[in-house]
Amino acid sequence: TWTIGNIAEEQIERIAAQIGPDGRAICGLSGGVDSAVAAAIVQKAIGDRLTCVYVDHGLMRKGETEQIERDFVASTGAKLVVVDAEQQFLEALAGVSDPETKRKIIGREFIRTFEAAEIEVIKDAPAGTKVGFLVQGTLYPDVVESGGGAGTHNIKSHHNVGGLPDDLEFELVEPLRTLFKDEVRLVGEQLGLPPEIVWRHPFPGPGLGIRIIGEVTRERLDILREADAIAREELTKAGLDRDIWQFPVVLLADVRSVGVQGDGRTYGHPVVLRPVTSEDAMTADWARLPYDVLEKISTRITNEVREVNRVTVDITSKPPGTIEWE
Ligand code: XMP
Repeated sequence: TWTIGNIAEEQIERIAAQIGPDGRAICGLSGGVDSAVAAAIVQKAIGDRLTCVYVDHGLMRKGETEQIERDFVASTGAKLVVVDAEQQFLEALAGVSDPETKRKIIGREFIRTFEAAEIEVIKDAPAGTKVGFLVQGTLYPDVVESGGGAGTHNIKSHHNVGGLPDDLEFELVEPLRTLFKDEVRLVGEQLGLPPEIVWRHPFPGPGLGIRIIGEVTRERLDILREADAIAREELTKAGLDRDIWQFPVVLLADVRSVGVQGDGRTYGHPVVLRPVTSEDAMTADWARLPYDVLEKISTRITNEVREVNRVTVDITSKPPGTIEWE
């Protein structure tokens, strides 16, 4: 009979056979459910021959890096390398406001950092280990969409970090390629991953970097992290997490608004709440959050985040608006 337990077992056996008794694998963790479940399955298959790599680009939300470092490791026993690249990313982003330029920079720095980590993993492998394995959280709908049939394929990693052959060849390992998203979540629960990871809303690769309208700085990231954490906390308290597709909070860092707080006028920044419902992110509707939840979020953000003196709600559907502001 078909159970989620069987699905996990089946994949663990398949992956163990694919990688063999000496192969080594590397898995990039993004903080999201797909990469975490993929890594958990491969860990069960090959143990410490899997190295998980988490690039901390400094653009994550409050508590997410700790969730990986502490809770993911505690629940899976996986070997994890955390690359602290915050400084590198912030320096690369300095002075940049254009959304597509931000994306390009973040993507480029990410690949650079991840490839350096790949080289470290391969370097440590015993002599004679020619091929490494790269774990990817590809889901069934992606497989169908790309017309990909069965079979393995290799990808070449062209790096410019120096010291090793020009092309590193990796064979892909895709433990989720027969699963739909809701099955991935069930397998994740089955494998004991924390609910914050299993039920996490989609979050863009460039992170908070594209939720700060204007230049990305450490100070602005900290402001947004606080406001965002409050919004997410109140949504969870209201029991609405699973009704909402995504809940971006956007900092209008280049806009200032006048306010009055306590004993005087303030000149702070507005934030935008962007809760949406959706099936697949291609289209979306603005979520009708209850007024009392919105009020709680607004009051707490303006009370607790000194630099923010105005909270607005985005009531644009997609199209014409996108989910993200950048
Ligand atoms: P938009 O803003 O285009 O977003 O309506 C649709 C979905 O894609 C996510 N998104 C991204 N994800 N890199 C990503 O990995 C990106 O550059 C990016 N831009 C948008 C967005 O969060 C939403 O789920």
